[in-house]
Amino acid sequence: MRPPIDAGTILITGASSGIGRELARQLARRARTLVLVARREERLEAVRDELLQHNPTLGVMVERCDLAHVEEVDSLLDSLHRHLVRVDVLVNNAGLGDYSLYEQESWSRIHQMLQVNVTAPLLLIHRLMRRMVEHGRGGILNISSGVARTFVPGMSVYAATKYFLDGFTESLRLELHGTGVVVTQVAPGPVDTEFRDVAGSRERAGRPPKWMRISAAQCAREAIEGFERGAPLVYPGLAYRWMMRLSSLMPRGVLRASGLPAAKQLRYGTSLLEPAHPDTGRRVLLAGGPEGT
Ligand SMILES: NC(=O)c1ccc[n+]([C@@H]2O[C@H](COP(=O)([O-])OP(=O)(O)OC[C@H]3O[C@@H](n4cnc5c(N)ncnc54)[C@H](OP(=O)(O)O)[C@@H]3O)[C@@H](O)[C@H]2O)c1
Repeated sequence: MRPPIDAGTILITGASSGIGRELARQLARRARTLVLVARREERLEAVRDELLQHNPTLGVMVERCDLAHVEEVDSLLDSLHRHLVRVDVLVNNAGLGDYSLYEQESWSRIHQMLQVNVTAPLLLIHRLMRRMVEHGRGGILNISSGVARTFVPGMSVYAATKYFLDGFTESLRLELHGTGVVVTQVAPGPVDTEFRDVAGSRERAGRPPKWMRISAAQCAREAIEGFERGAPLVYPGLAYRWMMRLSSLMPRGVLRASGLPAAKQLRYGTSLLEPAHPDTGRRVLLAGGPEGT
């Protein structure tokens, strides 16, 4: 069973940059209509203009929407309804992370991550899936993350949102067995996009090794290939895929231990090998970090 990509109507959240923009570029060659969703409207319009240059017959709808606000998601759904747009494939790609000790994280940022990474995909699926089931065809592509399979100090909320999406997507997939609706989860490792700038982890956490990183174009290509195969879970990138397969065999205790150096580095600004202060026995806390309510 294949998702109705060809001549279908595909809604992509987070289409203004990174993986979402690449998914739009690659799906534009086959879809009839794309609905591009994000906050930066001018970016979406630039993507639309680029797509129309290559595919003049493609229908492209630009929908400015802040997915952190449920009422804006409702307005988006109303707009689709008003324009008689029937979504065949939903791509929940928009998402954001943050890199901080939990107690230093602002509540508004935590709330934003929960809304964009969890609530918005759930709401969109809830509103759009029923028609797919009734018609016996449809597709849901959820862009999760490899962090949903491990422990990541400094990204505890982000990781938790992706754990949620992981459990939800796998369970939903079982519920939809035999209905004609394809559900696939993509769990990328490091992809070269704006993600790390938004999360503030580019300077603070260092760069992941080159062998692990892939381009947004490769991520999008492998995501679509996996979706078309009806794969439950896609790890894009050969090296990352093997690393995730091996790490899935590791006991939980090993995963915990492997995260400890990064946790120490984040909290004390030092590695496990560095000695504590000779007088206090304590390590220096990182200064600063976001404040908030
Ligand atoms: N890059 C990686 O290393 C990596 C690894 C694993 C998983 N992922 C996942 O991949 C997905 C795409 O991320 P990316 O790497 O392509 O990052 P990106 O370049 O930062 O793109 C994120 C997209 O999400 C949109 N977005 C963020 N907040 C939004 C909001 N409140 N309302 C509407 N749209 C919003 C952004 O659009 P606007 O800013 O215009 O609203 C943008 O289009 C995310 O779910 C991320 O968790 C990324």
